Amino acid sequence: MKIFGQSKINKNGQLELGGCNVQDLVKNYGTPLYVVDEGLVRVTCQLFKQNLVSENVETEVIYASKAFLTLAMCKVIAEEGLGIDVVSGGELYTALKANFPASRIYFHGNNKSKEEIMMAVNSGIGRIVVDNCAEIDLIESVCASLNKKIHVLFRVNPGIEAHTHEYIRTTNNDSKFGESIFNTNIYEILNKLINSKYLIFKGLHSHIGSQIFEENSFLEQIRVMFVFIKTIKEQCNFTVDELNLGGGFGIYYADGDTPINLSLFLKELLNEVKNKANEFELKIPKIMIEPGRSIIANAGTTLYTVGSTKKTVSGKNYCFVDGSMADNIRTALYQAQYEAAVANRMNDILDATYTIAGKCCESGDVIVRNIKLAHPKTGDIIAVASTGAYNYSMSSNYNRLTRPAVVFVKDGTSRVVVKRETLDDLLRNDLM
Ligand code: LLP
Repeated sequence: MKIFGQSKINKNGQLELGGCNVQDLVKNYGTPLYVVDEGLVRVTCQLFKQNLVSENVETEVIYASKAFLTLAMCKVIAEEGLGIDVVSGGELYTALKANFPASRIYFHGNNKSKEEIMMAVNSGIGRIVVDNCAEIDLIESVCASLNKKIHVLFRVNPGIEAHTHEYIRTTNNDSKFGESIFNTNIYEILNKLINSKYLIFKGLHSHIGSQIFEENSFLEQIRVMFVFIKTIKEQCNFTVDELNLGGGFGIYYADGDTPINLSLFLKELLNEVKNKANEFELKIPKIMIEPGRSIIANAGTTLYTVGSTKKTVSGKNYCFVDGSMADNIRTALYQAQYEAAVANRMNDILDATYTIAGKCCESGDVIVRNIKLAHPKTGDIIAVASTGAYNYSMSSNYNRLTRPAVVFVKDGTSRVVVKRETLDDLLRNDLM
């Protein structure tokens, strides 16, 4: 199992996360437990900030909070000087409650409600990212009723879809996000934004996918967006001041994953921006990116306790843990791969291949498929690596399981940032 940040294997062969021994973490907080290496989150934020830099280019790194959001995470992101992207009233509310600077909040979503827009405008957030033509009217009516203006970006679909190793260019895709740059009425929509009384149109947003390893996908996105920006200049006589390129940088989950070297690539990305601005004789817009997974995934580890093991008649080894698809839906939903280990015996020989399964009443309730483990026994601790992104945020109470606690670790200390749910929490909204 590849380990990250401050994690290490101590002299007794036990895993330490952020300087904290997993056995102590389990003793203090129980399992299943989400552990986040706060130091690694901060280092990664700085890696993005320090490398998305180039002379004469204004830049901003915005954390895509859908990957993992709690009050404590907002505080870390605010302290590291990043912006934050929210996609719902709930995410917005969390950021505001954490006193996240409103001017650095970007509000996304393909179907924002009137109430959500009201919350955003009233709290003076930095930008609303307008998703579609109909939303322009809705935001305008909210702004009119509040007599307030709001800065906006417009989300467009550049016809590039990227997944891991490849991208495709298409002019007729069916994405639910944004308006296609190939829409016949796209310049009409843009003119509506440009002429709006209440919406101050600043620029464009596009996001081409997630868990992308192929640098060329992002470079192609820049090229296509600049052709579009040039046409906007010609058709609408409008200068795009800001260009948000979205997130999607892939991370290492398991063997075969080859993340982009960000400290090199972010500079290359800005070079391409400059080249294209130069080629098309355009002003260099402010460049923003919105990484989610690549900021938090490797910093997260889930700890479980082994209940029992089972060998089926056909010879398959199961290792049953006290968590489930309710705390990690990604394996069932996306066939995601993870690495895992017996965390209290990291140096023991990996004796056989196991499937780590949870306790939900569902055959698909698998956390890690086919992984070599060191003979797990009842009471052992299983660590599943790189679970920081989209695990806690996509967790559920399926089978009325309580959600795990979230603990931040750093320099040998640990603190609870989300309490473990109780059985009474499950009944909180039930009426007899
Ligand atoms: N910006 C926008 C507009 C997005 O839609 C997303 C992710 C991001 C930024 C951040 O992308 P990232 O850097 O995290 O790849 N639940 C899925 C991932 C869904 C991603 C949705 N949008 C998973 O667990 O893999």
